Amino acid sequence: MASWHPAPLLLVSALLAAGPAVGLRQRLPTDGQRERLADSISNLTASPEDEYDIPYEILLTRGKFANMGAEMAREFMLASEVAAEKNRQSKTESIVECLPEMRAGVANGFLEIFNREYKPRFAATFKGVAVPAYFTVSDHRFKEMFRNFLVHAHQLTCTGPDRIVVVNAALDKESYQECKGLESGIVQPTNVVPWTASSFALHCIDLSGWLPQQLFEHSDQKFFQPWSCAYNMLLWTRPHIAAAAVEAATQPVMMIDTDVILHQNLLNLADATLQRCSDCVAIMGHEYLSDSKPNTGTLYTHKAGLPLLREWAKADPIFMNAKEGDQSAIQSLMSSNASLRAQLTVFSPAELGECGIAGSHATHYNCLTGKKGHMMRVGDWDTRVYREPPQLRCRLAGEPVEVEPDTGAPEGTDVPMPKRNRIVGGRKAGEADGLALILPAGHRQLRFTSASSCETWSCVTNPARLAIDGLASTIAHVSQLGNWTGDLGTVMQVARVEITFDSCMCQPAGSMVLETSFDGVRWRTSGALGEMKVWEGSRLVAFEQKLNARYIRVRPAATYTAIPHRSDQRFSIREVEAFGTSDLLAEDPLPAEEAEKRLSLAKQLFHRASKVAQDVRRAGATSGRAAWR
Ligand SMILES: *[C@@H]1O[C@H](CO)[C@@H](O)[C@H](O)[C@H]1NC(C)=O
Ligand SMILES: *[C@@H]1O[C@H](CO)[C@@H](O)[C@H](O)[C@H]1NC(C)=O
Ligand SMILES: *[C@@H]1O[C@H](CO)[C@@H](O)[C@H](O)[C@H]1NC(C)=O
Repeated sequence: MASWHPAPLLLVSALLAAGPAVGLRQRLPTDGQRERLADSISNLTASPEDEYDIPYEILLTRGKFANMGAEMAREFMLASEVAAEKNRQSKTESIVECLPEMRAGVANGFLEIFNREYKPRFAATFKGVAVPAYFTVSDHRFKEMFRNFLVHAHQLTCTGPDRIVVVNAALDKESYQECKGLESGIVQPTNVVPWTASSFALHCIDLSGWLPQQLFEHSDQKFFQPWSCAYNMLLWTRPHIAAAAVEAATQPVMMIDTDVILHQNLLNLADATLQRCSDCVAIMGHEYLSDSKPNTGTLYTHKAGLPLLREWAKADPIFMNAKEGDQSAIQSLMSSNASLRAQLTVFSPAELGECGIAGSHATHYNCLTGKKGHMMRVGDWDTRVYREPPQLRCRLAGEPVEVEPDTGAPEGTDVPMPKRNRIVGGRKAGEADGLALILPAGHRQLRFTSASSCETWSCVTNPARLAIDGLASTIAHVSQLGNWTGDLGTVMQVARVEITFDSCMCQPAGSMVLETSFDGVRWRTSGALGEMKVWEGSRLVAFEQKLNARYIRVRPAATYTAIPHRSDQRFSIREVEAFGTSDLLAEDPLPAEEAEKRLSLAKQLFHRASKVAQDVRRAGATSGRAAWR
């Protein structure tokens, strides 16, 4: 520590470490305005997924500083310090020993235990890993994030030749069990990609018991903010855990946050980028809008990077009271020591996007509140996360692309279908527009002209049209193995069909099928549903398979039953929505008569158009340009 030169950030942490508001009170006016600002900053980090984020950055990315200038930005920084100070004073910390001034000492104790009892587990696990690996750290509060990360990592093996290995260090028992559960449920990509060399493996390291359970109990965000004990203590662990992994591994390791969504194998890119920088031993993310400041959400290194990791670990305790903990530590090292700076490179933001701005290889959802919602909007949240157990396997043809959880029956009458963004065809890697990629050009929601079901009492009293009325509160019932059939009026290109079930006891594979037809006579299966159950709720299932069709039918398999709820094999639908375009697919053959009809229609249109053009020319010749005004 003696040889270490303090950077400006150290000043802040020293002030904060000095105890309740010693420095802050003198520097800040207490005019109530900043208090309110502090409140709103506390509120900004209000969802469990947002825990590792920084209010200042959140505001920054929301454009709050666009017209404010540096002075206002500074105000926000100070206000967020006030917010943290208030949290600290409101006795929200249950661990007395974790008072700011004692944290470094406490951490030292943890480190001893780690080195003695937990580090050997890294060596044991990495012994079986012969390729570069992703390395994650989990605790139970981020279960869904972890699942989503893994589903996307596994997905890489379904679309390319990648062999993906993830090693996860679980900080508590629950997340270790989750990891083991996922590990045992992995299905290799060979289930849909025969002869593939790609594969997926997950290894779990049990670190439960190392840190006190209290650190993982603050699921209420108010108690888990920058500067809080729980937050900063966990940040402090990162350099040590990273070093333990790199020491244990024979191959390079990428420590990666679970809010980084992989679109391509980032390990390959990391290796290639590192090769281009002759003195570099490690690569990290590129902090948003900064002059190549590193972001610790991704860190790729190998044995040669160990001295750098040790420097980072050494500086780490000094930043236990800084807003960004370990990240402040590395940033400070980098700005104060040129020889260390020369050893570290960063990803290009175009390749690894930060703050939810999509990169070609991966997108890091830092900076933003409402991460999960944001991921959903841009198609980076996979609904396989909701399955129990979540599924680490490639989707089979005909399987739904989305199965949402049951959102429950909407209350009231005339409730419109909820608005939602849709990504038809999935996101294309490298798509720069991270926010609003919704439907491909020309695609829209298609309108059904009519719908029919069956003649039973259920079908008659809750007729088929109630599933095409745009209302979530009205339900079409179908019983006794009848079917629901919607008519688009003419053949369209259908790219996506969403069915929102009220009730469907569809656990057996293929118990409900989606069928399409040109003519209402010849049908083909375009989707099949299984492992799904909802009763008097609301559950959306989306299928995507581009084809030409006029009729869309939802039909139960012959074995379908609604037992134990009913004996009449009833299922019911709140809404069926189709998306597509009138541009028919050339490769999907049209029935002969339909093709002929289209051809003659096209001829007519052409004829009419050329006639109009002739008329216009004639009119133009007589009255000059005025005709065009
Ligand atoms: C922050 O949240 C609390 C509790 O939900 C609320 O009472 C308060 O008005 C919020 N403050 C701001 C500035 O939004
Ligand atoms: C930079 O870090 C290296 C490695 O720890 C150290 O030997 C060197 O003295 C540091 N240089 C400065 C200027 O602090
Ligand atoms: C679908 O329902 C219609 C109307 O009840 C019926 O005529 C038709 O046979 C049903 N098709 C199948 C395959 O069940």
